[in-house]
Amino acid sequence: MTIPRNIIDEITKLRLEISTHDDLYYIKNDPGITDLEYDMLMKRLIEIETLYPELLSPDSPSQRVGGKISKEFNNVRHKQVMLSLSNTYVREELLDFDRRVEQLTGSEDYKYVAELKIDGVAISLHYKEGLFSLGVTRGDGQQGDDITANLRTVRSIPLKAKLFEGIPEEFEVRGEVYIEKTAFLEMNKYQEEKGGKIFVNPRNAAAGTLKLQDSGMVAKRPLTMFAYSLIYPETANNKLSSHWKGLELLDRMGFRVNPIRNIYDSIEDVIAFCNEWNGKRDTLHYEIDGAVIKVDSINQQEKLGATAKSPRWAVAFKFSAEQVETKLESVNWQVGRTGAVTPVANLTPVFLAGSTVSRATLHNVDEIERKNLHLGDMVIIEKGGDIIPKIVEVVLEKREINAEKITPPVGCP
Ligand code: IVH
Repeated sequence: MTIPRNIIDEITKLRLEISTHDDLYYIKNDPGITDLEYDMLMKRLIEIETLYPELLSPDSPSQRVGGKISKEFNNVRHKQVMLSLSNTYVREELLDFDRRVEQLTGSEDYKYVAELKIDGVAISLHYKEGLFSLGVTRGDGQQGDDITANLRTVRSIPLKAKLFEGIPEEFEVRGEVYIEKTAFLEMNKYQEEKGGKIFVNPRNAAAGTLKLQDSGMVAKRPLTMFAYSLIYPETANNKLSSHWKGLELLDRMGFRVNPIRNIYDSIEDVIAFCNEWNGKRDTLHYEIDGAVIKVDSINQQEKLGATAKSPRWAVAFKFSAEQVETKLESVNWQVGRTGAVTPVANLTPVFLAGSTVSRATLHNVDEIERKNLHLGDMVIIEKGGDIIPKIVEVVLEKREINAEKITPPVGCP
């Protein structure tokens, strides 16, 4: 069947229009049309593609809607291993890192790029002639799962990258897929209403979603992504000289790159960046668990090399666990399957590290004694190992004079 000229014109126009609005909405955060107008465009596009399936193409915005079911994911070997970062926790460890970099780079000057460490899921994206061709999970670092169908539904991942002078025909982009804090709360609320799985935190929700075997379901979840590294193949004609330039190129190619980043000459400035964001993490729409510090020059990165697990040219600076203050309202005595009685604190609900917390574990009666807890106390809580919140300490200054001690039940509850 020959396809009428006007249909070809219409589909070309529709695709361009939809990708422009995708870019405005998902990358630039500045919507150009209403949701309804957008839906109408998409509906018409899918209508034409259903009528003329020969017009379907992998970079059509209609591919964002998903629908592909995969029995299992294929295993894919990474062209370049996906290393993880070694962690630092205190200033002194960053100074040690800097001393090692200084020693190993010899007498050369070097710069650091400081970024936020997004608490999500690492992914690798491959592009051929500008088209998104393969998306892989980190897996064990050597090989991961082919989750291309799922990643196509993530609107902030360009199906077609903008190409220009100097960009090789094939390249790889690495980044973090994550869910914003408010989107996560809404998503869990929706899950609760329909009796679906409730997720512990945004990272867990992003990881669980990427493993779904139905990309149509993935399309309905609010995944987004920040790109944090551009990789050229060894066979490319030109070489990327600096990580910072790579981030700028990614931005120009239409990827979402976190604007919170900086390039510094000295480790002291890097430390100031870390301290600043450790204090301001609450102000972000997404969760971070630290900062990442990378030597900027790719030549120097290669010179520094890597150990079996992590590169010597980069390091993570992990922030301390988030803490908030709330009120201890009452204590429940829970009887477990083995008959052991565990006290559980009921708290005034507060938002902490990705979810609303209204209960905390108290372990046992000794713990209540040790922490000197009274009913109505203001307490500091944090998430232990990310999941179950625990009470760190009591804010004694705020205790009411006649506060009641917590007493265990006399008989078995
Ligand atoms: S660079 C070899 N930059 O943190 C360097 N990683 O162990 C590779 N992450 O799971 C990572 N934000 O996915 C880098 N701005 C950022 C990051 C980042 C989050 C994750 C990464 C990996 C872990 C590092």
